[in-house]
Amino acid sequence: MTRGRDEGAAERAATAAVRGRRGGPLPGSVHVVPGDEWVEAAGRALQDLLSEATAEGGEGSIALSGGATPKPVYGWLAAAHDPLWTRMHVFFGDERCVPPGDPRSNYRMAREALLDPLGLPPERVHRMEADRPDREAAATAYGALLPPRLTVLMLGIGPEGHTASLFPGSPALSERSRKVVAVHTSTTPPDRLTITPPVLESAIHIVVLARGERKADAVARALEAPWAPELCPAQLARRGTWILDPPAASRLSRFGREPTP
Ligand code: 6PG
Repeated sequence: MTRGRDEGAAERAATAAVRGRRGGPLPGSVHVVPGDEWVEAAGRALQDLLSEATAEGGEGSIALSGGATPKPVYGWLAAAHDPLWTRMHVFFGDERCVPPGDPRSNYRMAREALLDPLGLPPERVHRMEADRPDREAAATAYGALLPPRLTVLMLGIGPEGHTASLFPGSPALSERSRKVVAVHTSTTPPDRLTITPPVLESAIHIVVLARGERKADAVARALEAPWAPELCPAQLARRGTWILDPPAASRLSRFGREPTP
């Protein structure tokens, strides 16, 4: 990926310091990109990882993230219209328990911003059917659909440190056998399906997208606080490629401000 701002030796030193101090998996790569370059940097990171992983012409898989942050990145990917998408199977990391046409649906957002413009055949798009009355059955069915290892798992982060729909203190954080579970969360809409920690751990690549000051504390806790994913589930994505704008990165210690404990 073309790095927006390569901090070179300073970044490597800061990362090495963080590795020694914080425990948990080694941090991945953190890219802090100016706001006006962030969308393209995020799109290129995803596209580069997908094309590298399918360079031999093989098939790949991506689990899309929801919320508002990825929408412009999906627009960038749709406009780039890389041929690699014909080799992709598209999944979702989580979904709200609403109909697929509901404005709150992650599927609807991705369909409008990316999937329809790309014209992917329906057999390559695997919607998480969180609107089914029997949520546990829907969760089990989706878990069976997921590949053993996703090529790329896209994730966002909430201000309190959630990722996918894994929220602090959730029983889903101790799920070790099921790949997808139904959860009741403190946000709206509260009921969702979400991938579980084993899916994050097995993904070949993780890409975390975050923008804005409201994410700064959670980003710093995810990347630098002592290992406690039950308190900050986004720590499960620590090894990933993080694409941040300066406000979202502003509490990382290398930026001079310690994360609030
Ligand atoms: C969802 C997402 C969720 C999202 C974060 C960030 O269903 O809401 O999967 O994990 O990535 O909540 O959301 P924003 O991008 O809207 O801030």
